[in-house]
Amino acid sequence: MRRKVAVIGAGFVGATSAQRIVERELADVTLIDVVEDMPQGKALDLTEGAPLEGFDTRITGSNEMADVKGAEIVVMTAGVPRKPGMSRDDLLEVNSKIMNSVMGVVKENAPDCILINVANPLDVMTYLADKMMGLPRERIMGMAGVLDSSRLRSFIAMELDCSMEDVQAMVLGGHGDTMVPLPRFSTVSGIPIPELLPADKIEAMTKRTQGAGGEIVKLLKTGSAFYSTASAVTEMVEAILKDKKRILPVAAKLDGEYGLKGIFMGVPVKLGAKGIEQVIELKLTDEENALLKKSAEHVEKVVAELK
Ligand code: NAI
Ligand code: 2OP
Repeated sequence: MRRKVAVIGAGFVGATSAQRIVERELADVTLIDVVEDMPQGKALDLTEGAPLEGFDTRITGSNEMADVKGAEIVVMTAGVPRKPGMSRDDLLEVNSKIMNSVMGVVKENAPDCILINVANPLDVMTYLADKMMGLPRERIMGMAGVLDSSRLRSFIAMELDCSMEDVQAMVLGGHGDTMVPLPRFSTVSGIPIPELLPADKIEAMTKRTQGAGGEIVKLLKTGSAFYSTASAVTEMVEAILKDKKRILPVAAKLDGEYGLKGIFMGVPVKLGAKGIEQVIELKLTDEENALLKKSAEHVEKVVAELK
């Protein structure tokens, strides 16, 4: 049987995610957007490259949200990206309207899906999607930690001039300036980075990771990151479709873990066919715990601003 992923929003993040998913032959993709003909055009363009790329998965474009029907995974990317000088939280009003207009139709047509939200402000939009969809917590999550960790991984590899392949990193918390990179849990071939790099270099990489989304916005000027974002989305889609049971940082609904309840925030989870199969609680130091609490307070503050 052919497998299907629906990607809502055919902008930079949505279309690039769709491209990676079909090119890796993970599933057929339906790419949905409100802009007339645009998702159909991108889908046709990708299809016409399939003989060259050598993939047999199919991609179709649509302006009908009901075409999420039959999707095992729905990736929600519809939303406005930030421009220079804006924070992710500045997108709250406009993106929550879009989320409100979309999720009812998704619920009706793909009630059994696993939902991965990408729209910003990430943790709050995922909370809103959850309020509208009412899915079990295994089947609703936000993508941010995989991207934030990948950014830290790339900075570590650049600093050490070593292979990106050997670097692992863990970034927890909300997807914003208060995110919590964890050097103690970041390693190169199993060696914790505090054994390889001086404290000031680690501090600089931590800060760069927290501001990495803004660094790209400043360079692009008209929008935000999408190549790395799409890679992170695809990593999560692959983990679920192939039941890989990857341990990845994902924005999950917390139910007492880390002393938090009812909000979505980045924590390590086991990601497999059922979605979030386990939330992993790390033993944090007092300092790490304090940073995570501060990040949670920020997410809670923005949730409270939802109308
Ligand atoms: P974009 O502007 O290129 O694409 C957004 C698309 O959504 C547009 O094509 C637009 O027509 C569409 N859209 C708007 N309303 C819609 C609706 N009701 N139904 C269907 N489609 C609709 O923006 P981009 O760069 O793709 O970013 C998308 C979102 O992802 C933004 O909110 C951005 O902040 C977020 N983002 C999140 C990241 C993360 O780590 N979680 C990283 C990068 C971006
Ligand atoms: C990013 O981190 C803007 O959330 C987006 O690049």
